[in-house]
This record gives sequence, structure tokens and C-alpha cells, in this order.
Amino acid sequence: MYRCRDCGYGSLKWLGRCPQCGQWDTLTEFKRPDSHSPPQALATIPLEEAQRRPTQITEFDRVIGGGLIAGSVVLVGGEPGIGKSTLLLQVAAQLARDGPVLYISGEESPGQIKLRAERLAIGKTNNLLIGHEQNLAAICEHVLQTKAAAVIIDSIQTVFPAGESAGLGTTHQVGQATFELSQLARAQKIPIFLIGHVTKSGDFAGPKAIEHLVDVALYVEGGRESDVRVVRAVKNRFGSTEEIGVFQMTEAGLREIANPSQFFTERLGPVPAGSVIVPTLEGTRPILVEIQALVAFTRSNYPQRRATGLDLNRVALLVAVIEKHLGAQLSGEDIYVNVAGGLMLRETAVDVGIAAAIVSSFKEKPIDGQTVIIGELGLSGEVRRVKKLRERLAEAAKLGYGRAVVPAGEKLDLKEIELCPVHTIREAMETLGV
Ligand code: TYD
Ligand code: MG
Repeated sequence: MYRCRDCGYGSLKWLGRCPQCGQWDTLTEFKRPDSHSPPQALATIPLEEAQRRPTQITEFDRVIGGGLIAGSVVLVGGEPGIGKSTLLLQVAAQLARDGPVLYISGEESPGQIKLRAERLAIGKTNNLLIGHEQNLAAICEHVLQTKAAAVIIDSIQTVFPAGESAGLGTTHQVGQATFELSQLARAQKIPIFLIGHVTKSGDFAGPKAIEHLVDVALYVEGGRESDVRVVRAVKNRFGSTEEIGVFQMTEAGLREIANPSQFFTERLGPVPAGSVIVPTLEGTRPILVEIQALVAFTRSNYPQRRATGLDLNRVALLVAVIEKHLGAQLSGEDIYVNVAGGLMLRETAVDVGIAAAIVSSFKEKPIDGQTVIIGELGLSGEVRRVKKLRERLAEAAKLGYGRAVVPAGEKLDLKEIELCPVHTIREAMETLGV
């Protein structure tokens, strides 16, 4: 059967011009798919309990929702050099404990992968098969022949679909390769991981282009200056996209940071002015982090405003709120604000903390190291409520903090930590003694 690409008109023989819409050369052959599965009534469909296979890398399992689902495709995106190959080689070694795992690299030679494996101390893993291959048909053949229980493709941008003449890295090529590999995953009932490079230049089709074709899309993030790596789910058909996994890139691969709060707030020596501790929420998980501000007088007509790990626009807004409602004169000051450890904070619940760090540095008065600060700031200087206050406070108490500045109006009776409810930015700064 032939069908018009434009209007959908169907004809049994090919026609140069569509009789319905009048377009030329739009009729293309259309094979009716053999349907083995007629529609079913919703009520009669059996409930399938998805089997999850944990990788035993706790931080990774948390992000994927507890474990891998057979037949699923997991995309792992990130900038070059961030640690995607390292992470998945570690995952592969774990999975190889219960069956053959195939690691296909189109970028690196088996020798290079062996070197990396030696660094990760998994060089002697049995059952981990390394292939250097770019041809999709050949990759599928290897999967079938090795009876692989899991497959890693490093990277999807280097896979040539069968009979494809288009260049490597085009949207069409990565889309086609992803589609065919997901068919393979379902048919073989095995998980397949696809590594995808995010490039700034955009001359390669990035992982974004295939997110809709995969079951789970994860991104590995981290700053250039920091060795902290955060694995974040942006899509998960089998779980929440709320969770993150926190790792540190070490000499021997990615190490799980099981207690991020402790890791991000480790302070040696006395607390300097401009440093505060805020309980932030990453997914459902409260994590304590240190925010540092440096406010320094400048003669420049254009004072610097810089933020690392925070949204610069938000910082600019908070500076305006401080000027307006505290009467602080910051226009002649360079302002730098930093999240220690390289985490990126995206929530407004750290507003009061940021403001306190700036004011503390400006006045050169340190804030008590045993106090945490929670609250969003409104434009009129009011301190607003945040979600999951109790969880944030519990985390602070767990790490031994004794006092918390919190938005007024919450009814919490907590014994573990002393609460200082505040209504406005002015009250907050008075309570903090800055
Ligand atoms: P890699 O996994 O190759 O990144 P990607 O696949 O995302 O491009 O990791 C790249 C960086 O990580 C590289 O600069 C070296 C560093 N690294 C370590 O610091 N420790 C290690 O054990 C390994 C394997 C890599
Ligand atoms: Mg790589």
C-alpha cells in the first residue's frame, strides 16, 4: 500500500500525484505492520511487577530507582571528560558478577579501556567483554553471540546504523541507532546503557535529541574545578526523577559520597565571615552545604557580581533586597558567592542563607558555626516558607547543629534543634548577629 506523506491518502498502486491533496511525489510505500498484539481491555491486563536488579553502587541505584529493569534503555549524558565512561565501566564490573556484560566502545581501544579498568582496580573482572565497534549490525551480532546480560554503548554518537550513509553524530543517525538498540533491549530483555556526549558547540546531536526514545535519562554533572560528580535523572519511566547520586572523582575512579552533608560542610578551623550552612533539598534528600560570600570594596565603576553553584540572577535580586531592606550600600563592592564543594543549588530555600553570607562578609562579622539558615526571601524583605522544613532540620540536627533560623509560622516541635523563627530579612540578620 502507498500512503501520502502529507494528507495520509491511501492507494494500492503508486501515483505520482496525490489525488486528495494534489501534492506531487508524496506517496510512499507503507507496509502494514504485522500485529501480534491486538488491543486489550485495561482491566484484563495482568499487573507486572518490574524486577529490579541493583548494581550495588548505592548512589547509582538510588538515581535509577532502586535497580535496573530488564529490557530498558538508560541514557547517560554529560560533557566530555566528566566521567561517563568511568562510571559505566564501574557499573559494568558490578553487573558482570552475575553474567556476561558487553562494553562496546567506538571511541577507545580495548587497551585504553584495560588501562582505565586497572586504575579502577577491576582489571581482573571475568565476564566483562570489551568490543571496539561502530557498526550497529555488528554490535547487535555481538550482543546475541555473547548472550550479554547487559550492554554498554560508549558512545551512541559513534554508532553507525545499518546502511546509513549520513555522517556520524547527526540527529538522524543517533535517533536511528537508539531506536534499533532499544528494540534489541526489549527483544533480549536486557538493560542497554547509551553514553551520550553533551557538546557546547552543538555540531554533534546531543543526548537531548534521544531522550524521548529511552526509558531513563541520566546526566553526570560537575564543575571543572571540582571533583564532585552528581548523577541526576531527568527522565525515569520506572521511578522518580527526584533523586541524585553524589560521587567524588578520585585517582581510582568514582567514589560514592555516602554522607554528602558531612562532605559539603567540612570546615577546618574557625568559621570565617561570609560562611554559612544551609540545608538544601536535592530531590527528596536534604543535604547541608556551605555557602561562602566575599564582599570587597572596589574602585571600579562596574563592581563584579559572580556566582558559582548559584543562579547569578537570583544573587543579583538578593543583593537588591539587602540594599533596600537593610540599607546596606553594596554598589561599590565586588560580590562573589560560592557553593563549597561544587554542588549546584537551584532552589530559593537558600535565599536567606545567601543574604546572610553576603551581609556577614560585608560587615566582616562571622556567623555562629552551629547555626543553619533556611528560608526564601520575597521582594519586600519577607522570609517565606520552604518545603520539607522538618526533613531539613532533622538533617541539621543529625549533623550536630544546635540552632536554625527558619521562616516564622511553621508549627514544629522539635527537641533536637533550637528554632529561631523570623518574619523578615532584618529579623533574620539581627538573630544571626550581623
Ligand atoms: P571519563 O570517564 O573518560 O570521561 P567521559 O567518558 O565522560 O568523557 O573520565 C575523564 C576524566 O576522569 C579524565 O580527565 C581522567 C579522570 N579520571 C580520574 O580522575 N580518575 C580515574 O580513576 C579515571 C578512570 C579517570
Ligand atoms: Mg568516555
